[in-house]
Amino acid sequence: MNRLDVAWVPYPGLLACVLVTIGCRTETPVAFEENLVHVKKWELQSGSPMDQVLRDSQWALAELFGTPDEPRIPAVMEKDEDLKSLVALERLQAASGDELLEGRGLYRQHCARCHGITGNGRGETAALIEPYPRDFRPGIFKFKSTRRASKPLKSDLAKVIRYGIAGSSMVAEYRLDDDTLGPLPEEAIEKLVDYVIYLSIRGETERALIDEAALEFDLEGGERLIDPSLAASGSEEFADQWELIEEIVEEVAVSWLEAEDEIVEVEIPEGLPIPGSHEELVAMLAGDSGEMLTQSIERGRELFVGTVASCSKCHGTNGRGDGQEADYDDWTKDWTTRIGLKPDQQSDLIPLIARGGLPPRTIKPRNFEEGVFRGGASPEDLYRRLNQGIAGTPMPAVTLVSGQLEEEDIWHLINFVRSLEKPAAPAEPTTALSPGTGEALVAERD
Ligand code: HEC
Ligand code: HEC
Repeated sequence: MNRLDVAWVPYPGLLACVLVTIGCRTETPVAFEENLVHVKKWELQSGSPMDQVLRDSQWALAELFGTPDEPRIPAVMEKDEDLKSLVALERLQAASGDELLEGRGLYRQHCARCHGITGNGRGETAALIEPYPRDFRPGIFKFKSTRRASKPLKSDLAKVIRYGIAGSSMVAEYRLDDDTLGPLPEEAIEKLVDYVIYLSIRGETERALIDEAALEFDLEGGERLIDPSLAASGSEEFADQWELIEEIVEEVAVSWLEAEDEIVEVEIPEGLPIPGSHEELVAMLAGDSGEMLTQSIERGRELFVGTVASCSKCHGTNGRGDGQEADYDDWTKDWTTRIGLKPDQQSDLIPLIARGGLPPRTIKPRNFEEGVFRGGASPEDLYRRLNQGIAGTPMPAVTLVSGQLEEEDIWHLINFVRSLEKPAAPAEPTTALSPGTGEALVAERD
């Protein structure tokens, strides 16, 4: 029988919850979910039989990465001095496993209900959250100090976990062991950073293994990614198959190391007033640098609505995020537009949604009146968002055009965008601790 048809369960995550609540928890070990959407995509595109690829890739992944209870670091990473430094087994052990066990379970306690055990963004609350919790498996991260196509630094991931993501459901308050709500201790954050990297490398490897087989192998002719039955025999065929798999893991892991060389340097120009928050902007406007700042904001406005920067195309003339509302993020495009399906034609998407694709939602360009910057509100943060755009989203990098849009203009745009903030209505309960946003942020809580 077709393995993919067996898995025709609209919400495997929900099914798992039901099992948990009726007490199957101890009998059913927690397992990583397969990337059935990715497999189905290939089936739809190429018509190739993917059942064997699915089984073989899952076998390889378990050998390489272990399970949610017993994580492993692939040997090919342990062997290499540099790759070895990427994640530490003790940290993975503390982050993984059951939260009821002493010294284990940080991820399940704090993150899995949104990001899912697998890091596929399909925790049990996912369907209720906008934007959806992040799927770590494509290895794309938005808010970082590195270039758009690069991985984030560990410090970038730590920042997201430490402060949450302002304006999203990911807040900086977690239920701690003493049952109070608060920020996570730094050593817990360190462990979770390693675990996010581990889940991301695992998920990206899974995708790459499936791609490799679909693109390069004669699947009809029975060619296999790996034949586990040969493992014990010490056969050359098995050794070759395993070598290819290890090359794929290594390539994914190396991309994390390379991030260090891809940091975007920020030079704040001297002599230009660049406030760090809206309050500071208001104060500066009333002070000595008021006139210069007003001019900078005006220049920013011209650029914002002009044809070179064309920010207003998406963010709207007034920056309310109402310019363009019918686009999608890359996590959605990955299994819709990229294989020729329309995200708003839900009936065509049923086979993919049934296998774990979350129903497409359009991505909203930021409304600057809210004064909330998800990637941080410091001048350096905003510079990096404009200089590189936001990975995985339609937000493009600013393209410099000599005489029309120069480096300094990025700072005028930042000043303009910051000037759009409308003072928030007085104090609703605040949860976000993100530095420098300067406003009470009301984030959804679960
Ligand atoms: C209440 C739901 C929720 C919880 C709990 C949660 N997150 Fe998130 N997380 C999100 C959402 C939603 C996003 C996507 C935000 C966006 O794209 O703007 C996200 C994004 C992320 C990102 C991507 C950041 C980037 O730069 O792209 C990381 C990493 C992350 N979360 C890690 C964690 C970790 C680790 C935990 C546990 C300590 C956690 N999250 C807990 C909802 C949650
Ligand atoms: C093609 C559409 C598009 C264009 C053009 C565009 N943006 Fe965006 N922008 C977006 C989207 C979508 C987001 C939300 C991305 C996310 O966080 O998921 C965004 C987010 C932002 C953010 C929020 C960053 C944060 O940390 O929250 C800023 C600031 C921003 N854009 C500024 C600009 C400026 C300035 C321009 C012009 C130079 C511009 N954008 C052009 C689509 C666009």
